[in-house]
Amino acid sequence: MNVMTRDLKHLTERIEREADMSCRFREKIHLMPPVGWLNDPNGLCQFKGVYHAFFQYSPFCADGGVKMWGHYTSENMIDWNYQGAALYPDQPFDCGGVYSGSALVDNGRMYLYYTGNVKLEDKDYDYINGGREANTVLVESEDGIHFGRKKKLMGNRDYPEDLTLHVRDPKVWKEEDTFYMIQGARTKDDTGVAVIFESRDKENWVYRSRVAAEKPFGYMWECPDYIEKDGARLLSASVQGLNGEDWKDRNVYQSGYFIVEGDILGEYRLGEYRLWDYGFDYYAPQSFVAEDGRVVQIGWMGMPDCEDYRNPTTKDGWQHCFTFPREISVKAGRVCQTPVRELDRKKKLVKKSTGQIKMEGYPVYEADIEGITDGHFRAVLGDELILEYREGRFEMRFTDRELTSASAGRGIRYQEMDGIRNVRILADASSAEVFINDGESVFTTRYYPEKDKLLVEAEDARIRFYEIV
Ligand code: FRU
Repeated sequence: MNVMTRDLKHLTERIEREADMSCRFREKIHLMPPVGWLNDPNGLCQFKGVYHAFFQYSPFCADGGVKMWGHYTSENMIDWNYQGAALYPDQPFDCGGVYSGSALVDNGRMYLYYTGNVKLEDKDYDYINGGREANTVLVESEDGIHFGRKKKLMGNRDYPEDLTLHVRDPKVWKEEDTFYMIQGARTKDDTGVAVIFESRDKENWVYRSRVAAEKPFGYMWECPDYIEKDGARLLSASVQGLNGEDWKDRNVYQSGYFIVEGDILGEYRLGEYRLWDYGFDYYAPQSFVAEDGRVVQIGWMGMPDCEDYRNPTTKDGWQHCFTFPREISVKAGRVCQTPVRELDRKKKLVKKSTGQIKMEGYPVYEADIEGITDGHFRAVLGDELILEYREGRFEMRFTDRELTSASAGRGIRYQEMDGIRNVRILADASSAEVFINDGESVFTTRYYPEKDKLLVEAEDARIRFYEIV
């Protein structure tokens, strides 16, 4: 352990010990930082039966700062144990931040791949083509708790020449006896792409190919992910720089997926880009394959560079959380997301009704609305967050956009939809995830209600309200 590691560890542990746990908006079933700032999920995996979720973590400031990896473990993806920070920015090749990356489980060992960020200081740097380094780094672990020496595997010189210095977020998988790594990148002509590397031994990597849309699509792709499920292949990417009519009333940056026709490692074509989530707070999702074969995805319930809204928890010393883990499935070409089934064991039925329900006093709950007829669906959460289907579109909107209201500055998000059959609302102390039509569309938002209230109006529909205990 060098002095940097030692001091960062002491300071992190101290600020975690001193953290104020009393804020009423602290989440109960969603992962959040012990203190400070959280962004992307990293290194998600199930290793020797235990689930691991690492996160981009800046404990010293709720508005972000130098990034390290925080670490949670769980037996069931609901009750998580905080294990402390796992990786600190303590080497010359990652001193500007231990940026995002992934876990590979192979040969009974855990391999963590991440981007070591370095930012140099000089007023002349544009930080696109000069002034930064993006290093690909590997760390191994025998037990998932103790991590070995960091090894720098690649630097910007090892990446294709037409890329800027923005190359990051390695996601690694294995096919037969070859390992593949996908990273997000920005080309020198400002186009977002994903680049694929290949290795036989997990340490020596060579550039193999790239994945891009047919027409330039955004200037940067972050956190790419390749998913194979139910015979479908998906390329997920968090895209910066989408403008124009299609993207108005949307978030600053987007997270979505292309259905891959053909072979991502050979001849392929990317289908239309669809958003993972149509709400206000969703970015940088990552998936992993659980030991039972399920594909589980977790996203960051937040949004970078977003000036419109300001989460009030920053004054309580923390900000942001993860989405609840979601199972990904593909049915008849439609990608569906549903909360992991482990949640069922935590649900206690409180009330059943038809057409309408009014509840108060439950901060953490699930409401299931089934058999919706003729598009009749409207719900109000905490008096200020409205979910409504009208004129062929589903809306999530706040009654008030004031920074001091439940919205903390959020306005409206919507998505055209052919019809509505069912809705599943998963609410926590300061978040709501809304799964529509068996999870074909999802809307996620943070919100800060004064009262824990829910009203649902859906003529003839069967409504079930569960407390999550
Ligand atoms: C996405 C991202 C990643 C990067 C990380 C840094 O939110 O910008 O591309 O690795 O966050 O925290």
